[in-house]
Amino acid sequence: MRYFPIFFDLQDRKVIVVGGGEEALRKVRLLLKTTAKIAIIAPALHDELKANKRVEWLSTKFAGYLLEGAALVYSAEPELNERVSKEAQARGIPVNAVDAADISTFIVPSIVDRDPVVIAIGTEGTAPVLGQGIRAKIDAMLPQKLGALASRAASLRSHVADVVPHGNRRRSFWQKFFFGEVRDAFYQDDKKAFASSFKAAIAEDGAAPLGRVSLVGAGPGDPELLTLKAQRKLQEADVIVYDRLVSAGVLEMARRDAVRIPVGKTPYAPSPKQSEINEILVREAKAGRVVVRLKGGDPYIFGRGGEEQFALEQAGIAVDVVPGITAALGCAASARLPLTQRGQNRSITLLTGHSETGVADQDWAALAKPGNVFAIYMGVNAAGDISARLLDSGIAPDTRVTVIENGTLPDERVISTTIGGLWDALQTSGVAGPALIYVGLPTAKASADVMPFPVRQDIQDAILRAAS
Ligand SMILES: C[S@@+](CC[C@H](N)C(=O)[O-])C[C@H]1O[C@@H](n2cnc3c(N)ncnc32)[C@H](O)[C@@H]1O
Repeated sequence: MRYFPIFFDLQDRKVIVVGGGEEALRKVRLLLKTTAKIAIIAPALHDELKANKRVEWLSTKFAGYLLEGAALVYSAEPELNERVSKEAQARGIPVNAVDAADISTFIVPSIVDRDPVVIAIGTEGTAPVLGQGIRAKIDAMLPQKLGALASRAASLRSHVADVVPHGNRRRSFWQKFFFGEVRDAFYQDDKKAFASSFKAAIAEDGAAPLGRVSLVGAGPGDPELLTLKAQRKLQEADVIVYDRLVSAGVLEMARRDAVRIPVGKTPYAPSPKQSEINEILVREAKAGRVVVRLKGGDPYIFGRGGEEQFALEQAGIAVDVVPGITAALGCAASARLPLTQRGQNRSITLLTGHSETGVADQDWAALAKPGNVFAIYMGVNAAGDISARLLDSGIAPDTRVTVIENGTLPDERVISTTIGGLWDALQTSGVAGPALIYVGLPTAKASADVMPFPVRQDIQDAILRAAS
């Protein structure tokens, strides 16, 4: 990052714009959103600027000494850019020269304005159109009354500070204010509902301690596959207890000041026991903290989510679950491999290849039947035994097998092989990251349209009888 985003306090500070034409007008329109004192140096001035009482016009040619005392300087006169930039920099004043980033010491982001909530988007000048596109998307997403809601919060802040204790409880209160019923009532201009939901939120957070745990699915790795709810939970959490397979990109989405506790289990290496992880969760929640237990994929699929949920419920701690995209779905989508296909297969089984004692105890004979499709989690180390068992049970040696390593991540690898060649393929390719083994996947292709629910003959007859 070359440009560091900051918000500059312009309250009663002087901002000088050099130039009096269209370009200056554009800059001044933006500056008028602030409370800065705006001065323009230009021999001639655009009519709209002349008419604006907040603009002071120095009707003269540019000279360096005129910049004295300015907090910021804009050069909106291309012919003067070099001089203005030099004179401003000589006085230590940040300067922006229109369309000349190389001689500017600051650049101006695209802005979504819901004063006092302001969102700035920058691309360091590399992709202005992208910046504007992002701006438009954010603008469409945010309610117009967002700024008014923030101002209302500011006016209530000291009252809330008096009645809701500092820390989690106060944070929880503001969560309700900005994202719950209080907000809804405010946006609907329903004063009665606003007052009652505000009072209810104060009553709730002014009293009982709050510790709770959310078991959150982090998906297979690509942070964009997080659900909106998972993102919100990550923003709310005081503590994040996370697995080894949770990607760095997903952790980035968490609140900066959240405490992060890694509890990843590494196969064949010393790792925290499940009972120790349960204890951490209970301990943190009992201390009144908002805890996110972040698990790769989905918490309920080979994630031991049920065990953690049980331990928390036994300890009387509130727990909720946010599903995630399980690896079998995420990896298949990433590699564009359908999991079911009309005319080829009607089901897919998710199973683990590994157990405490080695290869998992599955009904390999049933799985080996023609047409079966299954996705094997944690199957790489036991792959030799798995293929041997399937072959012993009569699976065709040329049954299609697809291995996806680090699915959805930048270093994703897709290895195509057969059940007979699986072990060799894994050895040759040196699969080391998390990997899924799909057996018997169908192939993507068109299929004939079939009426899903054909009209029954007896009903057709009845319709005809009724019509005659
Ligand atoms: C302990 S299980 C956790 C599964 C997780 N709860 C889920 O729903 O995806 C770990 C296994 O999931 C699979 N896995 C998880 N992330 C993966 C990824 N990005 N690419 C391929 N396989 C993955 C691997 O088989 C790995 O050994």
